[in-house]
Amino acid sequence: NNKIGIGLLGLGTVGTGVANIVKSPDGRHPLVSKIELTRIAVRDIERSRDIELDQSILTDDPFEVVKDPNVQIVVEAIGGIEPAKSLILLAISLGKSVVTANKAVIARHGKEISEAANNAGVYVLIEAAVGGGIPIIEPLKQSLGGNRIRKITGIINGTTNYILSQMAKEDANYQDVLKEAQNLGYAEANPTADVDGHDAADKISILSGLAFGGSIDREGISTKGISTLESIEINYARQLGYEIKLLAIAENLSINATTAIKSIPLGLRVEPTFVPKEHPLSVVNGVNNAILIEGDPIGEVMFYGPGAGAGATASAVVADILNIGGIMLMQKEDKTLDPLLSSNSWRDCFL
Ligand code: NDP
Ligand code: HSE
Repeated sequence: NNKIGIGLLGLGTVGTGVANIVKSPDGRHPLVSKIELTRIAVRDIERSRDIELDQSILTDDPFEVVKDPNVQIVVEAIGGIEPAKSLILLAISLGKSVVTANKAVIARHGKEISEAANNAGVYVLIEAAVGGGIPIIEPLKQSLGGNRIRKITGIINGTTNYILSQMAKEDANYQDVLKEAQNLGYAEANPTADVDGHDAADKISILSGLAFGGSIDREGISTKGISTLESIEINYARQLGYEIKLLAIAENLSINATTAIKSIPLGLRVEPTFVPKEHPLSVVNGVNNAILIEGDPIGEVMFYGPGAGAGATASAVVADILNIGGIMLMQKEDKTLDPLLSSNSWRDCFL
């Protein structure tokens, strides 16, 4: 058949969002109906889930899913470093393209993964890894390619933006609002990554690799979170005309803007920041994210939308599946389709 066999690793917030899109293709791009969930890996096979699926495709062995000959594209939505990294590398070694939402693994092992993908001639697409549903990876690597990027300023963690917005609005208790963000599926399995700024640091590291090239020193990113902030501070800031936002910033520190791209000195940081009320990032509330890019000659361009959650993230994951699936089907010369042919892979940016 001319279906594209997907091996889905993880059926949590993101995995379930992806399965829900695949199960209801009507009204979406025609390629969605060509996607087939062939195998799905979970940790606990007995757990009852909010989605109806053929139980026989579930397994608790993700390596089995990657090796399954009917799986053509591996979608990694398990999270964390291991076994995610080994699963991604195994898929690549078997000549299978990968879609992942896992910024932690890409920020730390992106170079190794990209080199492996390059050598194997497969794709590893990561649109969901930064900004949830916001298209930011493809625009940075393609549409803005003619620019010299000067600075990226982002609200790129939905959990912390949700917490800060709720605390500003309702004088709410930090722990209660964090619990809400977890229940809504926004937070990482270990929410310390969100509230201490490490998730945003992973994401700004990835965006910097795309915008500026070269090797990004992930562990060198100065990172401060929001866990010690109190409602009273947020409210004082408001009275003074500011919103407190957790900003992730990457800027080209070279005086000469034409410095060779591989040797640009970068300033990278994540920190709670007083944002003046007139600034467009001050009105980004709730789970929304926004990324403001300053470049030459474009000036300023801002990307805005839902930064976490099942539907938003699955939207980005499925777009990546369609990109790869479209190319695969074109290679089989199925000319009746109108594939979303895009892009070279993000991987080249790490080389
Ligand atoms: P969840 O914790 O909701 O889901 C993780 C899934 O992986 C679960 O289904 C779990 O199984 C399964 N799993 C975990 N370990 C294993 C293992 N060793 N073998 C097999 N299955 C395993 O996470 P999310 O869906 O929220 O996040 C997944 C990834 O997406 C992470 O990298 C995250 O950073 C990223 N992401 C998340 C976003 C969000 O809004 N949640 C947004 C953007 C990216 P079981 O169900 O049995 O526990
Ligand atoms: N935990 C992440 C966030 C998920 O809150 O932004 C999206 O990457």
